[in-house]
Amino acid sequence: MAAVTILETKGLHREFGGLTAVDRVDFTMTQGEVHALIGPNGAGKSTFVGMVSGRIWASGGRVIFDGQDITARPAHARIRMGMAYTFQITAIYARLSLFENIALALGERSRPRVQEALDHVGLTERMDEIAGDLSYGHQRLLEIAMGVAQAPRLLILDEPTQGLAESEIEGFNALIRRLAGETSILLIEHNMNVVMALADRITVLDTGRILATGAPDEIHADPHVQEAYLGTG
Ligand SMILES: Nc1ncnc2c1ncn2[C@@H]1O[C@H](COP(=O)(O)OP(=O)(O)O)[C@@H](O)[C@H]1O
Ligand SMILES: [Mg+2]
Repeated sequence: MAAVTILETKGLHREFGGLTAVDRVDFTMTQGEVHALIGPNGAGKSTFVGMVSGRIWASGGRVIFDGQDITARPAHARIRMGMAYTFQITAIYARLSLFENIALALGERSRPRVQEALDHVGLTERMDEIAGDLSYGHQRLLEIAMGVAQAPRLLILDEPTQGLAESEIEGFNALIRRLAGETSILLIEHNMNVVMALADRITVLDTGRILATGAPDEIHADPHVQEAYLGTG
């Protein structure tokens, strides 16, 4: 079966004042793949996915999702088309229960459907607790469950394991493995063990430019990547 492209960017570009955060990036993602986006702090990863999701406007270039040019579409239109994302900074409703948080993401108050979403991250038992009372790691997992609840075609996760304990990271890896294949996942991740365990392909971004794209073993062996990022060159 030929690989179907779910997401493509062409010359995607963003400047902040005089600073080029994302520099004419051409990027392609195949349907069903787990694609990790890595690179040092300030490389432009969050800005890039911000433009893909419509939270940040592009200074130039195009975003094509599911064969349609969505560059001019607002974030809510992209959500309707099947994009879901979590931010680098956790964005839950801290004063509401887990149930209410998921119900808002779902747009309905079906208890079985809320339960199904929470099952993915092992928080079902805590459905009626207040989200703000959860540990930071659990709040992050709740946020991922909110994204998953929407049954997205493209799930974008910006540093989802930041602040998770080792035991929670294993659960996260298992979740992504279950979702992979059904959903395409674009994962910004600093933890290289997680990247190597989950990614079908990796793109390395450095100073707004793509340094390399390839399978995990190729990226790991790439001398430019080692020099610029892995620090093992
Ligand atoms: N809203 C903003 N205003 C000005 N500069 C920004 C803004 N957002 C990001 N930047 C700058 O753009 C560059 C890329 O940032 P970012 O996309 O957050 O990188 P990453 O997510 O890879 O750490 C950095 O130099 C950052 O300081
Ligand atoms: Mg970032």
